[in-house]
Parts: sequence; C-alpha cells; structure tokens
Amino acid sequence: MSTAEKEIQRRRTFGIISHPDAGKTTLTEKLLLFGGAIQEAGAVKSNKIKKTATSDFMEIERQRGISVATSVMGFEYQGKKINILDTPGHQDFAEDTYRTLTAVDSVIVVIDVAKGVEAQTEKLVEVCRMRNTPIIVFINKLDREGQDAFDLLDEIEQKLGLTICPLSWPIGMGQRFKGVYNLWEKKMQLYTEVQKQKIAESIAIEDVEDPQVAELVGEEAAETLVEELSLLQGVYDDFNHQSYLEGNQSPVFFGSALNNFGVQELLNCFVDIAPTPQNKDANGLLVKPEDPYFSGFIFKIHANMDPKHRDRLAFVKIVSGVFKRNTNYKHCRLGKNMKFSSPTAFMASKKSVVEEAYPGDIVGLHDTGNFRIGDSLSEGPELEFKGIPSFSPEHFRFINNADPLKAKQLNKGIDQLMDEGVAQLFTLEQNNRKIIGTVGALQYEVIQYRLEHEYGAKCSYENYPAYKACWIETEDQEQLKEFSRLKARYLARDKFDRLVFLADSSFSLNMAKEKFDNIKFHFKSEF
Ligand code: G4P
Repeated sequence: MSTAEKEIQRRRTFGIISHPDAGKTTLTEKLLLFGGAIQEAGAVKSNKIKKTATSDFMEIERQRGISVATSVMGFEYQGKKINILDTPGHQDFAEDTYRTLTAVDSVIVVIDVAKGVEAQTEKLVEVCRMRNTPIIVFINKLDREGQDAFDLLDEIEQKLGLTICPLSWPIGMGQRFKGVYNLWEKKMQLYTEVQKQKIAESIAIEDVEDPQVAELVGEEAAETLVEELSLLQGVYDDFNHQSYLEGNQSPVFFGSALNNFGVQELLNCFVDIAPTPQNKDANGLLVKPEDPYFSGFIFKIHANMDPKHRDRLAFVKIVSGVFKRNTNYKHCRLGKNMKFSSPTAFMASKKSVVEEAYPGDIVGLHDTGNFRIGDSLSEGPELEFKGIPSFSPEHFRFINNADPLKAKQLNKGIDQLMDEGVAQLFTLEQNNRKIIGTVGALQYEVIQYRLEHEYGAKCSYENYPAYKACWIETEDQEQLKEFSRLKARYLARDKFDRLVFLADSSFSLNMAKEKFDNIKFHFKSEF
C-alpha cells in the first residue's frame, strides 16, 4: 500500500450534532481527553455561543476567535487520525452546521435521555439522511432520570426516520443507574458513585446469564437486563456494517458524557466501524480519495479577527490526492492557478503550517477574497463539487445604505460576508433592491456590526414580509413567462443568479403551485 493509501485508510472525519444542551460540547471534550489531545476538561467549553443570544458584540468577536481554533480538532487514537469538525450549537447558525455536514464522512448524534428527539436534532439528521451519511446515536445523561429506553428508541426511529441497532444497553437509569452492557465488545461497565467522573474499567462478560452479572448489579437488575436483551433481539436486526456505511442502520450507545461513562466504548466502536474518507460527486464525475490528483472544496470561511487585515481563512476538505504546500492548484470557478505558502493544519486546538495533507483532512488557507463557500480546487480535471445547498431563510429584510459616501465599501462588505455564508443575498428583479435572508435574527446585528467595523460602511434594515424563498425549476418556458409576468414583484436572483420566488405567504405559494403545475418550487437550492 502506498503512503497515501495508508493515510487515507486511517482517516476518520466526522461531526457531532445535537439540539443545544444535549451534551455535544461535553462529549467532544471527552473524546479529545481520551485521544490525549487535551489534558483537562473545559478546553472546548468556551467555544459555545450561549443560548442567551447575546447582543454583546465583543462577546461575539471573542467567540469567533475561539471558534477558529476549535473549528477542526484533530487527534490520534489507536493509530487512526481523527478529525472532529465543530458545528455551532446555536440555531441561528444552523446554516453553518449544514455546510459543515457536507465535509464530514459520518456523524454522531447526541440525544438527551430525558428530552428525547428535539427540533434541531430532527433538522440536522434530515440533512445527513439526504446524503446517506452514516450515523451513530449516543444517548446521553443516563445518570439522570429519563425516558424508558425502548420508548426512546421508538421515538428515534419514528421522528428521525432511522433504523437503529442498539450496541449498548443501560442497566437502570438515574438513581438506579448501574451501568451499561456493551453488546459490541461483550463487556459490562459499572457505574458507581466512587467511579463518577473517572474512567470506569469494563468487565468482560460473554453471556449476560452468567451469575457474575447478578453479583455485580443485583438480582433484579440482572433479570431485567436478560429480559430486555432478549426483547431487543426480537425487535432489532443485528448490526450490519455495510448497512451502517450506506446510512441505512444506526448503532446506538448509552452513557453519560459528563461522567466519562460509555464514551470510550463509543470511541472504540467508532474507530472500528466509521467510514474512511468518501467519494464525492462533482458534476457527474465521482472523485475518489485514491485518485492521483489533489482536489478539495471550501465548506467554511472565517474572517480575520483583525479588521485592519482583511484576509480570511478558508477551510478546505481534501477529497482526493495529496495536498502540498507551495504547489499550484486550479481555482475552478475563477479558472486561475493558486498556491499556498502557509496552509494550516489543525491538531487539537493548535494550528501549524502543514507540508502535506491527505483526503479527509481539513486545511486552512489564507485568502484575500478569492474564495466563496462551495468553491473547488483541483490539480486534475475542472471540478464543481456538489452538495452545499442553501436553505430558505426564515427572516428577510431589505438592506439599505445608511452612508451614501460609502456605497462601494457597503457593496464589497455585503459581497464578502455573503461569500463567507453569514447570510443569503437576494436581488429583486424589478428594482435591484437587496434583501438579506437569515436563519435567525442575530445575524442582522452581526452583519451590521461587521460592516461597520471591517468595511467602514453603515447599513439600515427594513422589513420585507416574505414567508419563504423558493428556488424555481421548470422546463416549461411558456409557464415561466406567465409566472414571471404575474409574480414579477416577488422574483429575485440569488448570489449564483438562480431565480427565486419570495412567496409572501404559504397561501400564495400554494396558489402558485396549483396554477403553475409545471413549475417546481424548492425550499433549498440543491435539487
Ligand atoms: P451542548 O454542547 O450540546 O449545548 O451541551 P453541553 O455539552 O454544553 O451540555 C449541556 C449541559 O448538560 C451542561 O450543563 C453539561 O454539564 C450537562 N451534561 C452534559 N453531559 C451530561 C451528563 O452525562 N449528565 C448530566 N447530568 N449532565 C450532563 P450546564 O449546567 O449547562 O453547563 P455547566 O455549567 O455544567 O458547564
């Protein structure tokens, strides 16, 4: 096997997703602890933009600073190179998370045992399912009282549309929580007061009917365990690695991230089963990690913290070949060659200049405004990687120039912030007025603040009462002409010049759908 092949085989690049507060940050931190990447808990914690959507901009700036460092956390575990891609928990930044999910090869979903499947989990899992991303589920906070395990698994199957396969099973819960039986390794891990927050030793138990189990957890709990495991066998299929890799079956683990409980089991199984870097579709061409030429795509852009230097960090996921420092690669959209003298690699929360990187790795490139989210770099054929969709925003506002002398700065600022993916820009067909669409209200404040501080431009907003943005698809030019005539006021172009209908209500959208039956209306830009 060549060096490149070996490096590809040992890469595991994934993301952790959850509804805020389920324990994503805690789990990330514990995985890093087990991987020896950090020495103490608390290192990742500070990355969180708190749910109390702060309007304190210094705080937002500080958070942005930290989140560059923790955007990608790489570490070595059992000979594998693991890259965790951080996804913002705050729902106003959901769009960021969707894009990051295009760069992962698998995900771990964290669910709070008491709260079950929550709204944000549903949305994020849906995005993963669109791409058949392999999913492992971690049910967290077993040290607290929560839902019955069987009920919870039912809920997960129904609400998330997953076919699951428990690979560990809880023995009690909350006050009565005794531990978990690990079906993957056939081991039992006991949870005791004394062992809280420590790494509990596992005991090998081949057969749960072994009398040793009753000695360890008590007669009653042992009986329940035997019963529940036999029930499980009746209800769920055995684990099938291929089904998991195809996104058709999701293993489930139980534990408590805060107490380091069940985390190592999760990690051990993860390195065994999680996929190596995957093929990626680029306009019909399937690019494989082992292809000889380097290729990659930008999934995230981070603006510099220092407003005086407007350079940014563009995050590239390497899809194929070997990325090398100071080597010419084609920027496919601009059709020009570029080379990078100080590409950055991420190990734990440290950054360093990297000479070479392999498929699955993320490299940070310094950018002075050449990159846009979704751009492709290639050493071989011209590529346009598929799969960075935009979703209809929830909020829409006109953006106006509040300082006529700074029109140029304003336009440049808006352009660059949109390239970064902070929000979406729509330009009305009728009068060229600009509308900013966002997922959450917080973004408007961020944009206003950054335009002023980084570009010296001032803006004001004005409400635009739209319900949804719908991307239009049709081959029926006659209908499109009639539709455009009738709905001229509501038509706009997105940043890629695609036609978008800004429906003002669900009623008018439904009317339009009925009347123009040859036009498809999509709530996302990829179809
Ligand atoms: P998030 O990134 O998904 O938003 O969640 P995060 O890890 O921040 O966890 C949310 C809260 O849940 C935190 O408490 C955290 O300590 C707690 N938590 C995480 N895992 C467990 C667990 O296994 N058991 C229990 N009982 N709690 C858990 P917090 O009070 O919001 O934060 P902190 O003050 O403890 O840092």
